[in-house]
Amino acid sequence: MTSVGRGNSAQPASAEREFVFTPDDFRVIAAVLHGDAGIYLPETKATLVYSRLAKRLRLLGLSSFNDYCALIQDEAGVDERQAMLAALTTNVTRFFREPHHFDHLRERVLPDLVARARAGGRVRLWSSACSSGQEPYSMALTLLAAMPDAAQHDVKILATDIDPNVVAVAREGAYRRDLLEAVPSSDRSRLKRAPELGDDVWRFSDEVRDLIAFRELNLVRPWPMNGRFDVIFCRNVVIYFDEPTQETVWRRFIDIMTPQARLYIGHSERVTGDDGRLVSDGLTVYRLKGAAR
Ligand SMILES: C[S@@+](CC[C@H](N)C(=O)[O-])C[C@H]1O[C@@H](n2cnc3c(N)ncnc32)[C@H](O)[C@@H]1O
Repeated sequence: MTSVGRGNSAQPASAEREFVFTPDDFRVIAAVLHGDAGIYLPETKATLVYSRLAKRLRLLGLSSFNDYCALIQDEAGVDERQAMLAALTTNVTRFFREPHHFDHLRERVLPDLVARARAGGRVRLWSSACSSGQEPYSMALTLLAAMPDAAQHDVKILATDIDPNVVAVAREGAYRRDLLEAVPSSDRSRLKRAPELGDDVWRFSDEVRDLIAFRELNLVRPWPMNGRFDVIFCRNVVIYFDEPTQETVWRRFIDIMTPQARLYIGHSERVTGDDGRLVSDGLTVYRLKGAAR
């Protein structure tokens, strides 16, 4: 991405810009996004912000970013703030992304959890920035491979994201075949063709979908759930937060982890501000210090 540099204007040099976009406009947008979602936008993202939001201005019939900033700061602009968030965040994801996490889950975590569930215990997993669902479905397939009888026990996966659009896609649980390539052949029987949704679109069976509860949830706002989690995936989202926000999120996860829980984070992320309460349990996997292994 091209940086706009440190000049007087957040507009890139090209004179053919359709809308005036000043450093003040950029600052307002960055402050609103930070306040709403904890996301930190460095000035180097100004070009990206311009190009993603210019489409919104056109759609809304606005003639300047100044007007756009007035809208998103107004009470009436609440829907547009949501649209802005969706336009400025990335939802990139894929099935079995960072496959070593699913190997770890299968080999080192699920055996105990399956035994506990079969003995009548409660087991909870959370995909905390689930995007369009590839992560929680990968978790569900890993779980079902280890525990085909999961539906008969108190086992659930919570899948949440701040963006209601991606949560809706995730809830639908239907994907084009090219997106499903990383799904193991042994799991393909859990997919059924969904011709009503398009050519070569496949949907996960009810058995898989029923394991997962999909909800909208903002990681930097209060969380509604009470119970603790045995497995938390928080991957490739805190990287967009500033450091204090990241630290707050890590501490809040610690507070809702069961003693044996594992926290899985993205490959370019690291845990800070945890006061040594989390220790490594593998590549970008953490557990609580002092917990029996
Ligand atoms: C790059 S995707 C990561 C998806 C998945 N975890 C993975 O690693 O493949 C980042 C997701 O974080 C979500 N997100 C951004 N800010 C958030 C927040 N404050 N609370 C919850 N989700 C957020 C975005 O909507 C997006 O779907």
